[in-house]
Amino acid sequence: MSLAIMTSGGDSAGMNPAIKRFVEYAYEVGETPYLIYDGLEGLIDDKIFLGDLRDVDDIIYRGGTILRSSRSKRFFDIEYRKKAYNNLKKREIEKLVVVGGDGSFRALNQFYHDFQVPFAGIPGTIDNDINGTDYCLGVDTALNVIRTSIDEVRDTAYSFRRAFVIETMGRDSGYLAMVSALSAGAEICLIPEVEPDFASIKQRLSKDLKEGKIYIIAVVAEGTEQGKYLTQWLEDELGVESRLTTLGHIQRGGNPTVFDRLQAFEFVTYAINGLIAGRTNDVVVYKNSKYGYVPIEEVSSQPSDPRLMLNQAYLKEVEKLSM
Ligand code: F6P
Repeated sequence: MSLAIMTSGGDSAGMNPAIKRFVEYAYEVGETPYLIYDGLEGLIDDKIFLGDLRDVDDIIYRGGTILRSSRSKRFFDIEYRKKAYNNLKKREIEKLVVVGGDGSFRALNQFYHDFQVPFAGIPGTIDNDINGTDYCLGVDTALNVIRTSIDEVRDTAYSFRRAFVIETMGRDSGYLAMVSALSAGAEICLIPEVEPDFASIKQRLSKDLKEGKIYIIAVVAEGTEQGKYLTQWLEDELGVESRLTTLGHIQRGGNPTVFDRLQAFEFVTYAINGLIAGRTNDVVVYKNSKYGYVPIEEVSSQPSDPRLMLNQAYLKEVEKLSM
């Protein structure tokens, strides 16, 4: 059987180790691996090549994705999906593995219903916002990039007795900010899932400053859109000179951590095994320290309360940093 892999949506560290495992494991179990470049756009434009072991020799340590990625509007159009299907058909590629977010999984699910091409989804996004899995590829690497950045900002924060507001990515999810605030010992954390209480923050930190606190670290998720506001607020309300550091796309880069390399290995093994066993449109997940499969419908839906997407013990701690 011939299988193909693509990476789709925002890139994340761990995608390259996943591509490597895909090619190696496919050959190991007697299947033929194909590589689709440029995500769904490349599937439409026929950028599909037979995978060779030499293609993946030198990629396990590299961030991003050697296959590149895209967010495709054309794939919403049945004419382009038909084109994509013909590209697979002429090479007799029967099944797909896609590493990406829930938007990519929904697109592939539509493709499955159109042309009955089974796929296995592998969660890959630094946002860690995919329902049904505790972990998405790239999150650990992003958290380590953020940790290093905050540790470095801390040097200048101390030296100048300043407050620093660090804005993290995550789209509508506060996951990256939440974990980063806890692991950096931040004094303030604002995430979209928690309503902040500025009066309490003022009371708490005024006391700390009076008792000798030298500098303040605040971690703010981009989804709150409060980075600039908080920076000014710290100056106006607490009288502390403040600076905003927006980390931006550096959070998507960097060599995959050991954890991301191992997760990539397991996710891909489960994806290929699932396809061989006859699964048609499931996503491989890591939940309560176990790997498994969940139907695409579950992954595409969001819990009514977004707070339920977060680790409840961490959330409780972070609430204390929002008040
Ligand atoms: O979904 C991953 C992500 O990095 C988000 O955290 C961020 O909001 C968004 O992508 C940025 O998108 P772009 O790379 O298109 O600027």
